[in-house]
Amino acid sequence: MSHETVEKRAGLLTVLIVAVISVGGLIEIVPLAASAAKSQGGIAITPRTALQQAGFDIYVREGCYVCHSQQIRPFRSETERYGPYSVAAESQYDHPFEFGSKRTGPDLARVGGRYSDDWHRVHLHNPRDVVPESNMPGYPWLATASLDGELMQRKLRVLRWLGTPYSDADIAGAPAAVAGKTELDALIAYLQSLGLARPRGS
Ligand code: HEC
Repeated sequence: MSHETVEKRAGLLTVLIVAVISVGGLIEIVPLAASAAKSQGGIAITPRTALQQAGFDIYVREGCYVCHSQQIRPFRSETERYGPYSVAAESQYDHPFEFGSKRTGPDLARVGGRYSDDWHRVHLHNPRDVVPESNMPGYPWLATASLDGELMQRKLRVLRWLGTPYSDADIAGAPAAVAGKTELDALIAYLQSLGLARPRGS
């Protein structure tokens, strides 16, 4: 069958394209599905607190994912720099997923606990105060913006509907959990939670 025959028949071309993609897809997907244990890494993930979830939403709103990925791939160059590779369970409560492939800045999947809250406070205000060569923008407005407790409560309710196991107490306590906190507090609480579900070095 010559190339020309295939290219001139849209129907045949479509069938062949689907066949090729299916084989490739099966090779990638079947081993993952067959070893759930490997992709879960044997870890139990608890849902984010209301404050951490508020931080996640700010991370998405500010477009941090444009420069930062949250997926450590299973290669030595990555695990030596960032820590153990990411497993599926770690991002199961992310709506939307923050995997990403653009790394203008470092991967953040395991940044939790790497720096102090005060470091993040200074860094997010003006990154060049702690990392002189940084080209990350500053986010000074976060320090003065307050959080909406009612909105957080509604968001937790929607997340429960989507499958995150929030309890009635979590939802009832959401406004109190974010009361008096700033957007900066929330974002830092979120960053500090990243990657801690899995012990470092495991
Ligand atoms: C224009 C690209 C860009 C954007 C947008 C960006 N960053 Fe960064 N980020 C960087 C670069 C480059 C670095 C490395 C230099 C530094 O530490 O400032 C970095 C470093 C970091 C670090 C330290 C990571 C480490 O392991 O040292 C954190 C935490 C971080 N960024 C969080 C954020 C958050 C949160 C946002 C959104 C509010 C954000 N970044 C938005 C480019 C970006």
